[in-house]
Amino acid sequence: MKNNLFVNILQQAKEEGNAVGAVNIFNYLTADAAVLAASELGVNLIIQTSAATVEHFGAQRLFDIVESVRKDAAVKVALHLDHCKKTELGKLCVDTGWDSVMMDFSQLSFEENIARTREVVEYAHEKGVAVEGEIGIISGVEEDIVSDKQTGADFEETMEFVRRSGIDAVAPAIGTAHGVYRGVPKLNYELVEQLGREKTPVVIHGGTGLSAQQFRKLIALGGRKVNISTLVKNAYLGKIKELALSGEKLAPIPFDTEIRMAVKEEIKKHLAVFSGREETF
Ligand code: 13P
Repeated sequence: MKNNLFVNILQQAKEEGNAVGAVNIFNYLTADAAVLAASELGVNLIIQTSAATVEHFGAQRLFDIVESVRKDAAVKVALHLDHCKKTELGKLCVDTGWDSVMMDFSQLSFEENIARTREVVEYAHEKGVAVEGEIGIISGVEEDIVSDKQTGADFEETMEFVRRSGIDAVAPAIGTAHGVYRGVPKLNYELVEQLGREKTPVVIHGGTGLSAQQFRKLIALGGRKVNISTLVKNAYLGKIKELALSGEKLAPIPFDTEIRMAVKEEIKKHLAVFSGREETF
């Protein structure tokens, strides 16, 4: 697909042998912090919103919030819908101006996953919007989506899914999970390497808790978009808690600024590793 910001950013990441950070935001402050982090490093960014966040704000209002922070940025900032299981909501984001949407029908049968994803691909491509799909099941909690089953993807099946659905980026279950890891994740590097040789960009979900070495290895093998969400929420809530418990008197604007800076720093150290600016956090 030509002239699509999401596709263009992923293509650039491939040419540079790096990955773009896809940061889940949930309000003005976190969107602003993410753009600030990317701008300070001079790297492109994908801002992504969960389906629950879209439903909370309303699509147009959320679009306007993101637009207000990205419109003057010197780097490219795409707006992406993360894990959407509702066809109508996906189409609404397509119509409202999102650059790309992720449709997640991975819990349905293989054939249903292809058919339901393909329906949105046809709708979105008509309007110049890109689509990400998921194959296998990535476990953990992402907003209101809870999955405790992890089903790994395999190469042949993933490629058939990509071909028949027509998606622009693929999120295969490779052993990562959303949320905080309870144990050490067993990552399927081999699958990332196999898919990394193909045309369609590979998306790594469940970024929170992976080490810088794990990220660099996944990116070296072909991961082009790395999703981070829980660590953004933790930085936001952690700073609020720290400030609230500090006993210091704070006016709203300095309070806001401190939270924004804490969130920005946390995102920035991850973007630095994804973009190859740094080897460690
Ligand atoms: P984490 O919450 O583990 O960072 O995962 C984010 C993600 O993959 C969003 O789709």
